[in-house]
This record gives sequence, structure tokens and C-alpha cells, in this order.
Amino acid sequence: MNCDVNLGLPAALAAKWAVGREASAACFPEDGVFFLQEGFVKEIVALSGLCPEAQPAFFAAAAQIRSTPELLAFAWHCHWRLNVAPAAINAEHNPWPPKKADFTVMGNQFFFVFPILAALPRLKAYYAERGIPARILADTLHDLDVWAHTTYNLHGVWGYRDPRWLLNHTAPNLFGLGRLQFQFGKRNNPCNTWHQETTGQVVIFPPDGQRATEDGFFAHEDEPQAFTTIYNVDTDQETVTGTPVRPDGRIDQHPITLSLQEWKQPFVNDDPMITIHIPAGAPLEFDACRDSLRQAIAFFPRFFPDFHFKGVQCGSWVFDPQLTDYLPAQSNLVRFQTLFHRYPMVNGSSWQIRERVFGDPELPLDKVPQKTSLQKIVKKHLQEGRQWRSGCVITLPEEIA
Ligand SMILES: CC(C)(COP(=O)(O)OP(=O)(O)OC[C@H]1O[C@@H](n2cnc3c(N)ncnc32)[C@H](O)[C@@H]1OP(=O)(O)O)[C@@H](O)C(=O)NCCC(=O)NCCS
Repeated sequence: MNCDVNLGLPAALAAKWAVGREASAACFPEDGVFFLQEGFVKEIVALSGLCPEAQPAFFAAAAQIRSTPELLAFAWHCHWRLNVAPAAINAEHNPWPPKKADFTVMGNQFFFVFPILAALPRLKAYYAERGIPARILADTLHDLDVWAHTTYNLHGVWGYRDPRWLLNHTAPNLFGLGRLQFQFGKRNNPCNTWHQETTGQVVIFPPDGQRATEDGFFAHEDEPQAFTTIYNVDTDQETVTGTPVRPDGRIDQHPITLSLQEWKQPFVNDDPMITIHIPAGAPLEFDACRDSLRQAIAFFPRFFPDFHFKGVQCGSWVFDPQLTDYLPAQSNLVRFQTLFHRYPMVNGSSWQIRERVFGDPELPLDKVPQKTSLQKIVKKHLQEGRQWRSGCVITLPEEIA
């Protein structure tokens, strides 16, 4: 069957997807595409716990693809590209836009979910081989429901328009363990972490020579500089001197000196780390998050003993220390921050908080929703001419008790 990739996709993307058309057409299964069969679609629904309200739209999306020859051929082709062809094809002809995008293919709101989750049989075999409980696969795939809700809340229709996030689930490079999700990560941050084993204390130093604002964040180019960060390791004196990040997540302009005999770096750049993701879909309840972290530090050594992670890390709007200036100490967002050591994000901006709190980062301030206390706080802060910064966190495995 011929595969027409011009189904309303932007021309540049259609050209990238077109690569391999003949090869995928040559193996098109005339007796039915397995991942669009009713039974397969029902299995995805059952595993992911897609909510009953979204299910009719999901089944209808599969039915539309089954009954539309161009869509069916393209879905098969996408499956071939994503799950069958050598990965190098996608690296060389990356068919996804650089930023999150709104794709519907002939109006189909779930289109790419199907070829991506065509990897399910391989994924199930992978979990079974490693002995990872099937419940974890189901919890991980629950993201389909989470993102269907996000689409519904934003657009008023059930769908998942840019589901390439699910490629992490099928890789697999993402596991839902309780409230949070976890990935195989790598340390890649200019800030330097030091740990004193005898006391368990952790100190984070930003890199040397960075412009910092009065309130202890990395200054943007157009912001006045209050001080410059210092970081210097003196191997002769066996000391490290720097402007440390305070426990409240902001850089202190007064340098301190630590002895290298007592203080060590628990990880440096390129070391393996567990990276956290915070899915929507439920409150960020403190005990549930702590339990989730505990699950993660037990999960990886058990099922991936070769992954010698040195710590747990995350960067997000959720860790902007300024949130604690506004939200009550008992709020989930504030309590969640206390599970970690916070430090400023280089180039941290207001973009992500606007995306996640207003639904659209580009909305002008006079149009942003004002239903929750956080929406009001985020708007007020911006109206006062201040910036949101996002933030980064780390914690060491031994601190997760
Ligand atoms: C992370 C998340 C679950 C926290 O929500 P929570 O547990 O309700 O947080 P809190 O209880 O501390 O919320 C305090 C207030 O902020 C509001 N709030 C929290 N997150 C909000 C959000 N993303 N958008 C709008 N308001 C939000 C709450 O409704 C509450 O308002 P209220 O006082 O009017 O009742 C929520 O923000 C969310 O689902 N985010 C989407 C996922 C995400 O952003 N992940 C990080 C990606 S890097």
C-alpha cells in the first residue's frame, strides 16, 4: 500500500517522515495492522487506565485510522520508522519538530500514540525478561491518561497530540514508581556538589565568575549584577572556596572555604544520576513523593544493577525557590522542595511556569487564567516586573530514608 505522508503535516516534517516509505510499504500487512486492532487498543486502555470519558475518543481514533487507507498506511510507516527500522534513520531524518507541537493527522487527536505504543509487545517482553512487575508498566503507561486530560483541559477534546514523550516509556527510559517518574540520567550541570561524610552536610557551589542578582539567582543578560560567583579548588592548600548556595536555594555572596580532607564530591559531570519527572494528574502529596523516591532507589539497583547512579536530580518550575515566598509552608509544592537540596538553574526563566500554570506560555498577562492561588501569584510576580526562575535540585541516595 502506498503511504502518503502529506496528511496535513508541515512540509518539512512530511519530508523527514517520507524516508523509508518504500521499505515500510513492502512489509505492509494486508491482513490488518496489529496495533490498531480492537483487542490491542483495548489492551492499551486497560493497561494505562485511560479514563472512561476519554475511551470513546480513543477507540474512535483507532477506528478512523483503520478505515482510512492513507492514515492506515502512514500509521504503519510510522511504526516501521519508530520500532522496526534502524534507529539511525530517525537520528539522521528526525521527523519531530524541535519544540512541543500540536499535531493532528487528518484531525486525528491520538494519531501518533498508536504507532509509538506498537512497541508494547517488545516492551512487555523486556519487563518480563528483567522481572520488572507488570504493575510498573501499567503505572508508567498511565501517562496516556494524564496527557489526555492535559489535552482535554487545554483544548476541550480528548487526545494526545504530541505524544513523543511516550518514546521514553517504550525505550524504556522512564518508569512510573508511585507518584513520580524516573529516568536513567547523567549529571550535566555547571554547579558543584560537595558532601561531608561525617555530618552528611551538602554544599553546592555555582561555577566561578557567574553574574548573580541581588536575590541570589544567575543574572540574565539584561539584569543588573549584584556580585560575581566564586569557585576555586586549591589542591595545594587542599581547600575549596566558593560562594555557596544557601539552604533556601539562592546563592550567598559571602564565600566559604571547605577542607578537601573532609569534603568530597559525591558526583561530577557525566556521572549516572536518576532524573525525576513530575507528572500531572494528582496532588504532589509529600508522603507519596517521599515513598516514590524510596521506591526509585530500590528499583534501579534491583532491576538495573549496572546503572551505578550517584544521586537523584531534577530541574523544573516546581523548584523555583520564590514559590516558598508566596505559598503556605504546608502546600504540596513547598513541602516537596524540602525533600531536596535546591540550587539556581542557569538561564532559568518564567517560560515553564507560565506553560504549566497558565496552560500556554505565550498568553498575555491580561488573558491568563486566575482560578487558583498559584495562578494569581505567578501573574502578580510578573506584573511587578519580577522574573520566575525555575530551579534545580539534587539529593543523595543515603538521604532518602
Ligand atoms: C505539580 C502539581 C501536581 C502540584 O499541584 P498541587 O499538589 O495541587 O500543589 P499545591 O497543593 O502546592 O498547590 C497550591 C495551589 O496552587 C495551585 N496549583 C498547583 N499547581 C498548579 C498548576 N500547575 N496550575 C495552576 N494552579 C496550580 C493549586 O490548585 C493550589 O491552589 P489553591 O490554593 O487555589 O487551591 C501540579 O502543579 C501539576 O499537576 N503540574 C503539572 C505537572 C508539572 O508541571 N510537572 C513538572 C514539569 S517539569
